[in-house]
Amino acid sequence: MNYKIAVLAGDGIGPEIVDQAIKVLKAVGKKYNHSFEFKAALVGACAIDAVGNPFPEDTFQLCMDSDAVLFGAIGDPKYDNDPKAKVRPEQGLLAMRKKLGLYANIRPVTTFKSLLHKSPLRKDLVEGADFVVVRELTGGIYFGEPRGRSEDMTKAYDTCTYTKEEVQRITKLGFEYAAKRNKRLTVVDKANVLATSRLWRETVQEMIPEHPEIEVDFMFVDNAAMQIIQWPKKFDVMVTENMFGDILSDEASVITGSLGLLPSASVGIHTSVFEPIHGSYPQAAGKDIANPIATVLSAAMLLELALNLTDEAQAIRDVVDKSMTAGVVTEDIAEGKAYKTSEVGDWLAKNI
Ligand code: IPM
Ligand code: MG
Repeated sequence: MNYKIAVLAGDGIGPEIVDQAIKVLKAVGKKYNHSFEFKAALVGACAIDAVGNPFPEDTFQLCMDSDAVLFGAIGDPKYDNDPKAKVRPEQGLLAMRKKLGLYANIRPVTTFKSLLHKSPLRKDLVEGADFVVVRELTGGIYFGEPRGRSEDMTKAYDTCTYTKEEVQRITKLGFEYAAKRNKRLTVVDKANVLATSRLWRETVQEMIPEHPEIEVDFMFVDNAAMQIIQWPKKFDVMVTENMFGDILSDEASVITGSLGLLPSASVGIHTSVFEPIHGSYPQAAGKDIANPIATVLSAAMLLELALNLTDEAQAIRDVVDKSMTAGVVTEDIAEGKAYKTSEVGDWLAKNI
């Protein structure tokens, strides 16, 4: 089969890590007889620099015309400390989510045995932790209106909005993941304070009878933040609104000790987007030292979720495991010799 993949490498280490995932995908294509057609487009700070828009129309069109999007990272320090900047790279990411209808962000949280010593938690707490965060991605306080500043600039406001339909479609996905896994769904909200959270709870409660095989529990977000640290193994699938999901998914990913290794998928109405969960790591840009594994594993999610190529996805996961056992890893996780980003990519492609 022939598949079209849009490549949005973005800023910082984005281009380097995406290159390694492309190498690996090409090797998969060769082995399994698929051809992947890669087309690049601009996103983030580099798009602002080039055309003044962090998610240009051409990029949007390319995404719409592709079978999947492989995304690197966005962000540039020159915008981070400038609250007055008129356009920001992050707006590109939010525009992409909205325009592609990517209402769900899926982040699997898994531990790698060889990296457990890097976890900030005790090994016995985190070993074997394995859950999925299903974050709502196109609603809530990230997009609600009105938002802005009062005329005299002394007040600012954001609005958190959810509709019942938005809650239903993300919860449906949460139930689907739970059904494929250990049949437990934790709904994270702040129903003791927020009206939107009470709508979530009410809506989910209405859906429970349709899924008798799934055990559902509700947890306030502050409690969830605590329990992820105290007892991460208790979770199977966690579903939550946009901002809670933003915060909890970072927390969840770091407890594994493998932040540089975790992939993610954003799925919804149009083309799905696959990207590492880490950021653009500008300090490492151009040095060929960044860990490409999260992006390579994102390519595995792409094969599985967007193209339905399950064996091919597993082949990538297997070769990643092999590289870690063989110690062919970048400096962030190396015990002995550290390999360059490009060397890890070459090794993976050769051994697929
Ligand atoms: C993420 C990021 C983004 C978000 C930023 C860069 C806008 O933190 O994908 O989790 O807050 O959603
Ligand atoms: Mg985040």
